[in-house]
Amino acid sequence: MPTSVIVGAQWGDEGKGKIIDILSAKADYIVRYQGGNNAGHTVVIGKDSFILHLIPSGILHKGRICVIGNGVVIDPRALLEEIKMLESRGIKVDGRLFISEEAHVIFPYHKLLDELKEQKKKKIGTTKKGIGPCYADKVARSGIRIIDLLEEDTLKEKLQNNLEEKNAILARIYDAEGFDLNALLKEYADYGRKIKKYISNTKRILNDAVDKGKRVLFEGAQGTLLDVDYGTYPFVTSSNSTAGGASIGSGVGPGRIDKVIGVVKAYTTRVGEGPFPTEFGPDLMKKIRHKGNEFGATTGRPRRCGWFDSVVVRHAIMVNGLDELVVTKLDVLDELDSIKICTGYRFGKTVYDDFPSSIKALTGCQPVYEELPGWNKDTTHVTSYSALPENAKRYLKRMQAVLKTKIVLISVGSDRSQTFSKGA
Ligand code: IMP
Repeated sequence: MPTSVIVGAQWGDEGKGKIIDILSAKADYIVRYQGGNNAGHTVVIGKDSFILHLIPSGILHKGRICVIGNGVVIDPRALLEEIKMLESRGIKVDGRLFISEEAHVIFPYHKLLDELKEQKKKKIGTTKKGIGPCYADKVARSGIRIIDLLEEDTLKEKLQNNLEEKNAILARIYDAEGFDLNALLKEYADYGRKIKKYISNTKRILNDAVDKGKRVLFEGAQGTLLDVDYGTYPFVTSSNSTAGGASIGSGVGPGRIDKVIGVVKAYTTRVGEGPFPTEFGPDLMKKIRHKGNEFGATTGRPRRCGWFDSVVVRHAIMVNGLDELVVTKLDVLDELDSIKICTGYRFGKTVYDDFPSSIKALTGCQPVYEELPGWNKDTTHVTSYSALPENAKRYLKRMQAVLKTKIVLISVGSDRSQTFSKGA
């Protein structure tokens, strides 16, 4: 380590939850730096399964300190529910969770506006958690921050200003009912009192930790292709899910980050709308979705599935400055006769090696594939790289060669134990 960032190198759901959980065992601090409860990080420990939306998955490791940084948007209702769920399952949160004073708060009007906008024909396919509208207010400088929940007069003034605008939009554009100031004020001031013990100057906590040589792990949510700058805009989330977001969203400068690790699935998935060049046809879609249990951890929506796309991952390697890769869900490909890797896109006369910015090109392009033989063997009990079927090793080696980045860890199932290093 000592300071590492973990990001998704595809469209999210790469299995980061499990990898972060494993690396958390060697970390002192685990930090969420962007997104909100649109994320769903699943961690399986023996027969127990945890889905975390806001609190870093490091909370499952005794004694680790977890930080929700300034770049995160927080729905206090969801936060309190998550704390309650953890405590009811015997996981101590008090004294281990620190929330930035500067994180922005998701209000019910953000959620309603998200939902209403999604009813339009040209939708994004959001999680409807209010993420986009909350970040829009942050950038428009009208957002309400966690610290404001502790100052009732400030909260009242800001909420009043926001409600004047939001209630007018709800009534005039969507013909929907608005929100009552006093009811929201009472509810959110109460949340402020409940979460006060967690609210801190997290920039100071983290920089002091780095000064002392503590090991800090930054946990990216979503994935590179959902980043508001580097993703398939506008079919993206509203934050910087790439590694650069870790500095912005935590207050730890880029020069203090030592390593960036990318997590990739052995194939590709995405949830929601937007281009997906290597998407499977119906039969393979059904097979892989079922075998990989490809249903959203937050919304339960079926995920779209496709072949491994090295154009996507090379783009992620570049914009994140990835030092190494972790490959997850290799076992999901166990029952295939042949497996394809996309190495480029053809659109008209143009062949793209670099990920195109044009949504038109991405929607209309034809993937260029290399085909490799499958291994048709169960890999879920494999515990070392050398014990993998030869064709599985061949697939990983080809992936590594096409990506020109080292694969360090491989996962063949959801349990902590189903993970091994690639070795030299
Ligand atoms: P939002 O983040 O709810 O605004 O959704 C914007 C897009 O990001 C949609 O396509 C969502 O399906 C996608 N998205 C948001 N969070 C996740 C995630 O944790 N995993 C995968 N996709 C996500």
